[in-house]
Amino acid sequence: MSAMPATDETALARAVASFEAPAAALDTIARDFLGQLTRGLVGEPSSLKVLRTFTRQPTGRERGRVLVVDWGGSKGRAGLVELAGGGAVHMVGEEVVTFSDDDKRGAADHVFDVIAAAVRRIVDAHAVDGGCPLGFVYSYPARLERIDRAVALALTKSWSLTGLDGKDVAGLLNEALERHGLGRIVVNAVANDTVAVLMLQSYRARGGDAGAGPADIGLILGTGTNQAADLGSAGIRNLESGNFDGVGAVETPYDVTVDRELAEPKPGAQRFEKMVSGHYLGEILRRVLVDLAEATPMFHWSDAPAFATPFGLDTELLSRFDADRSTALSSVAAGLRRLGVESTLEERRAVRRLARVVVRRSARLVAAALVGTLRFLDPGLAGRHGVAVDGSLWGGYPGFERQVRGALDELIGVERTKRLEITFVKDSTSAGAAVIAAVAAQQRSE
Ligand code: BGC
Repeated sequence: MSAMPATDETALARAVASFEAPAAALDTIARDFLGQLTRGLVGEPSSLKVLRTFTRQPTGRERGRVLVVDWGGSKGRAGLVELAGGGAVHMVGEEVVTFSDDDKRGAADHVFDVIAAAVRRIVDAHAVDGGCPLGFVYSYPARLERIDRAVALALTKSWSLTGLDGKDVAGLLNEALERHGLGRIVVNAVANDTVAVLMLQSYRARGGDAGAGPADIGLILGTGTNQAADLGSAGIRNLESGNFDGVGAVETPYDVTVDRELAEPKPGAQRFEKMVSGHYLGEILRRVLVDLAEATPMFHWSDAPAFATPFGLDTELLSRFDADRSTALSSVAAGLRRLGVESTLEERRAVRRLARVVVRRSARLVAAALVGTLRFLDPGLAGRHGVAVDGSLWGGYPGFERQVRGALDELIGVERTKRLEITFVKDSTSAGAAVIAAVAAQQRSE
């Protein structure tokens, strides 16, 4: 029994209820997503960009060594990957670099220099020669004009660099490689991380079994979120689904302030991502707690920097809160203590309850967006479809996939959900970049 006074319980219950995403609302969202995908593809106004990728599904027989670069978050990677055929991929060497908050708001050239220096270390360590292809996964919106030319659009995930917007990111990397004495190495393919996970899963499936179907959808659920999809005659497209704006049916006042008060990405942009991805879920919970502190005697933690500062509450903590099954909620207590607050059991229960509903809504929104894409591919949802997924939220949050599947059951029925082959493809980006570069090399030689 709760010892909480009725008014506090009401305020809490109201906040919890605001995160509900009933099946009817999700269905509306899925239909809107489908409509916007259809319009985006033919160049009509749409919040989905549906960008061309200039790649095609791999055969699974691609082979050889490929240099790879992966830049899409606080960490960047340069590596050397061996495609061994038969669906096998080996990482020969890898260099990881970490970007600071200053790097995220500085000059683009500096970021490319850091990456080029990491490529240089790989090239030197493994005696890579000039003919080696390089696949570059750039996990932000970019309009490709060729497989090796990608014009940067506005950045996401709180990045804001000077000297990037409107520039070709492959060209910028080539110039940085040249500055590092690597003029002989040239970017031969640039792609989004959603395309990388889709391509890697197709390569693995087809390499292991020539009759296997390729992945139809690539999904990333980590710091950011996005989908790529193989739209048949329109080719593989990067939807930039994080920018989907048809979220009104399940939006809360907290989402409205997250959208309006953060400078990057600008208000109105990345609406879906701001309600779904790992970069934002902790921030949404923080705002709920700050708000409830005014309406109830609970959560009077505003002196603790974690609660006074935007993004002070890391999304990673939410999985810890959710997983705590102890009577005293000792893991929730420890997590909060790390943020500088001592809590009552009542507060811990409330925090866990709120964390769960914030994440549950994210999973349900992901399901709605997937249904939108699946209905585009196969209106009757009669066939088998492959969805390849990567990202820290999907891979690291216990029960996230189960919640997505539960919402899919509600939206399209248990039988159709069973026909979806959803595969978690861990650490897909660098290996996927290698597959894309190998396919590009093959396309060039034809
Ligand atoms: C970017 C996408 C990317 C996704 C996942 C989003 O913020 O706009 O390009 O695929 O994050 O990394």
